[in-house]
Amino acid sequence: MTKTSIIILAAGKGTRMKSEKPKVLHSVCGKAVIDYVVETAKAIGSDIYVVLGHQSFVVRRHLTSGVVSVVQKKLLGTADAIKAVKPYLLRSIGNVVILSGDAPLFKKKTIRRLVTAHKKIEAACTFLTAVMDEPEGYGRVIRDQSKNVISICEEKDVTRDQKFINEINVGVYCFNIQDLLEGLKRISINKKKKEYYLTDIVHILVQKKKVVKGVLLKDASEGLGINTRKDLAMANQILQKRILDNLMDQGVTIVDPLTTYIDVNVKIGKDTTIRPCTVIEKDVVIGKKCTIGPFCRIRPKTRIGNSVEIGNFTEVSRSTLGEKTFMKHFSFLGDTDVGKRVNIGAGVVTANYDGKNKSKTSIADDAFIGSDSILVAPVKIGKKAMTGAGCVVTKGKNIPDHSVVVGIPGRIKSKRKTK
Ligand code: UD1
Ligand code: MG
Repeated sequence: MTKTSIIILAAGKGTRMKSEKPKVLHSVCGKAVIDYVVETAKAIGSDIYVVLGHQSFVVRRHLTSGVVSVVQKKLLGTADAIKAVKPYLLRSIGNVVILSGDAPLFKKKTIRRLVTAHKKIEAACTFLTAVMDEPEGYGRVIRDQSKNVISICEEKDVTRDQKFINEINVGVYCFNIQDLLEGLKRISINKKKKEYYLTDIVHILVQKKKVVKGVLLKDASEGLGINTRKDLAMANQILQKRILDNLMDQGVTIVDPLTTYIDVNVKIGKDTTIRPCTVIEKDVVIGKKCTIGPFCRIRPKTRIGNSVEIGNFTEVSRSTLGEKTFMKHFSFLGDTDVGKRVNIGAGVVTANYDGKNKSKTSIADDAFIGSDSILVAPVKIGKKAMTGAGCVVTKGKNIPDHSVVVGIPGRIKSKRKTK
């Protein structure tokens, strides 16, 4: 079987984003745009080349292992970007898939479908197209009367009639490597934009009577390329819907999907209910039968056990909460390990940051943290211990099991009577 190499184009300036940050490092649902593309590439092919240019150093530092970074010295367009990978392509046979670093929404099965179609018809070039309600900004797919592809025409070059064509090129291609290398040689500079357009290769191959095919996307939203901040917002919206639909399919209740924001790769157990206006960020794991929200923010690296209740106006960051722990109103937990069956009263705050360092708080099983208690980290609250309302437990204190602690600063007053 011939192998499939992948090229990810990510050298462009991203001018339309008006950002100091490279376009492909902007985040969509908690993950950088380019990471989605690299993940898809790794699932499809073997040798992955990422073409970098603008702020290449910053993007390269971000990239994970398993990809080869290639630098395009002058940013002379998408065809020129492919030329940067030429030395590697010359050593390869078979097919190469080209993905855009700024298009994170493609599903793996869609790219697989493209590669399968390409191999089946032994094409020189197969590319994905989409029918868009607003095709402005994209290259239009020009077909003849028999619906065969003739060329791709970029926005800046379309005639008044072509402007109304709503089938667009989404920037994902599968090429026979030899045909790609041959075609690249014949691409001349676009006089208006002073760039070499990869899309010109379509017409060149058609003229050489090579097999070129446009494969229509079933779901056009996959084809969204991020060029502007509006595109970025749209990508967030589309991916957010996918994430929430997937969680609901797995048995999670989401009361109001329109006001619920959950990052990619968050894990939530069955029969947990997420109530409105809740934000759950990346790298969070929530157990079964919990109730989260309304108006709550769960931040990265938080682990929540089964049957936990986290209520309104609460924030939890880099913390662990054991099963059946309640934290129902107006509280903040940061860098805190909370045991099982703990009650966090209204207004409890862990003061985890002293201006220089973050410190840990630990609250053992069955503790009861009274309303408005402030726990100044590092601090430990023992098993079944209780803090009185408004108590301030100062830094370095180690409250023994079963104690009741009150006042400012908190003084141990008595033994707590529990079952
Ligand atoms: C490109 C396509 C257009 C298609 C659209 C889909 C061309 C000429 N046009 O337009 O037909 O509808 O994508 O989203 O290809 N890049 C480089 N080096 C360069 C220039 C760009 O690596 O010199 C990279 C960019 O980082 C980006 C990708 O190529 O990831 C596409 O470039 P971009 O400028 O976004 O092209 P579009 O105008 O979106
Ligand atoms: Mg683009």
